[in-house]
Parts: sequence; structure tokens; C-alpha cells
Amino acid sequence: MDLERAYDRLLENPGVVLLLGGIDTGKTTFGIELVRRAAAAGISAAIVDAEVGQSTVGPPTTVGLRLCADIQELTRESLLVADELGFVGNITPRGHLLPLVAGTARLVAKAREAGCPMIVVDTTGYTSGINGQSLKYHKMQTVRPDFVVAFERGGELEPIVGISHRFTPAEVLELDVAQEIDVRSAEERMSFREQQFQSYFATGTSRWRVKPTVFMPTLPPEFDMRLLDALVVGMEDGKGSCVGIGVLEYDASEDFLRMVSPVTEGVRGLRLGSIKIDTDGRSKGPVDMRYLFRSE
Ligand SMILES: Nc1ncnc2c1ncn2[C@@H]1O[C@H](COP(=O)(O)OP(=O)(O)O)[C@@H](O)[C@H]1O
Ligand SMILES: [Mg+2]
Repeated sequence: MDLERAYDRLLENPGVVLLLGGIDTGKTTFGIELVRRAAAAGISAAIVDAEVGQSTVGPPTTVGLRLCADIQELTRESLLVADELGFVGNITPRGHLLPLVAGTARLVAKAREAGCPMIVVDTTGYTSGINGQSLKYHKMQTVRPDFVVAFERGGELEPIVGISHRFTPAEVLELDVAQEIDVRSAEERMSFREQQFQSYFATGTSRWRVKPTVFMPTLPPEFDMRLLDALVVGMEDGKGSCVGIGVLEYDASEDFLRMVSPVTEGVRGLRLGSIKIDTDGRSKGPVDMRYLFRSE
């Protein structure tokens, strides 16, 4: 199917549209253009961005919902600020499938509650192997898309496309990836991510002392708090929503942890992520939480 026919089909029957494809296959570009065309046709749309590494809506390490009805000129920049977030805690789905699937499902439910006839769900390029297939299968089970749009390059997507045909009632639109797409290098992807983190923290951060009892998962007794220095955390409002992300800072002089974040209001609990960064967005590497907690 060509792009134009796909847009027409989706605009004729507004519903939940799940975009699937490897990295750099044109998913996000397609999703934004679809929402733009929906707006022009008077259909209010939402984007649920389930990309945790190359985020469009909200900072990396989160999934984000953006209701697009109020946006005058729809560009990637205009989507940066989310209406609702879900914390995943890492920049890759690997090892974090549960918060990714649960968070995406919650945001799609929110968009449905808001009465959006069209909900575009953008996803990571993690589509292969047992875990990639499992991730997309469970995403389809919870999101219940009316349409799956598959961006195919070679045969890499065949297992997922087969699964969507056999295991879901969604209509599957198969598109060939545009030849002209330039695939970005790992460095370009990293620098894009750093910028996304930076622009999130650039709105001005506050610092405040946190009690060791506010975390999820709960810290074990006698826990060495130094180990959490520079860890990304999600800030939860106690009603099931994530209000933002921040970074922990360890104060050695008095042995306590401080939060560094642009968001200060409405925080009741902190969820531990599993990567460390500085507030310039530079990665300081992943953290194995089970090892830190000496836990299963
Ligand atoms: N149909 C297209 N023709 C040419 N270039 C495209 C097309 N769609 C996307 N691109 C370009 O390819 C790159 C990757 O697109 P993107 O939508 O971000 O992919 P994904 O979300 O699948 O990773 C971007 O630089 C984008 O501008
Ligand atoms: Mg994308």
C-alpha cells in the first residue's frame, strides 16, 4: 500500500492506530503527518508516544500522551510537552517491558476518556526476537488498535505482521519503507536523546532533600544511598500519574539524597529508574537494580 492510500484509509475511519517498524522507518514522521491531516479534516487526535529512547512527547525514559486539538502548527517541537506521562525508567524497552506496556495502555485509555476519535500510538523499533514479539503482542492486547500500520524493510517485520493478522482484529496496513530515508547513526541518536533530556531540564531545576522512605521499589534496610547518585527517577502523584522525571544527587557531607527536577508540585512518591544521567542529559550508563538491591 502507498502512503497516500494509508492516510486516506485511516482518516475515513478514525480510531486507534498502532505504528510498528524498525528504527528509522518513518513511523514518527507518518504519525505526525496523520495527526496534521486529521486536524485539517476536523478530527481531534492524540499521540501516545511509546518511544522511550527517541522520544517525541515528554522526556526520554517515559511514555507520553499529547492531545493535539489545541496545537496550531503541528511540528515535532510542538509535541515536546506531554499532557500525561508514564515512567519507564530506561531508554530501551529491553528488561522494562512491564512499565512500557502498562504505561502505554494507561495513556491510550486516558486519550479514549478525553474523547479523541483518533489515537496514534508511536512505538520503539524493538520488534524482533522473542522479547520484541512479546512486547508488540502485549501492546496490541492492551491497546486494542483498530489499525496496525507496519513499516517494512526486508522481512524483519514478518513475524509481527503475522501476529497482528492472526491474533488481533485490527486491520493491518503494510507500507514499504521510503527509499530516501537516511538511517541515523548511534551517535546521532544519542545526541538527539541528550538534547531531549537537556531541553526538559533547561526549564530550570529545583533541588530538594528526599526521605529514603518515598521510593518504589522500597529501599532495603541499611541501603547505601550513594549507589543512587545520578539515577533517573519518575515522580508520581499518588493517584497513578507520573508528573515528571528528575535525577537523584547524593550529598556525601550529610549522607542524604536530593532530587533535581524542573517539576516540584504534586509529588508523593519516587520510582527508581535504571539508568544514570547528568542534568546535561549525558548518559552515565545503565544500572542493574537487582544487583544493587541484592534481590531477584
Ligand atoms: N517518507 C519519507 N521520505 C523521506 N524521508 C523520510 C520519510 N519519512 C521519514 N523520513 C526521514 O527519515 C528519518 C527517520 O524518520 P522517523 O519518522 O523519525 O523514523 P522512526 O520514527 O521510524 O524512527 C527522519 O530524518 C525523517 O525526516
Ligand atoms: Mg520515531
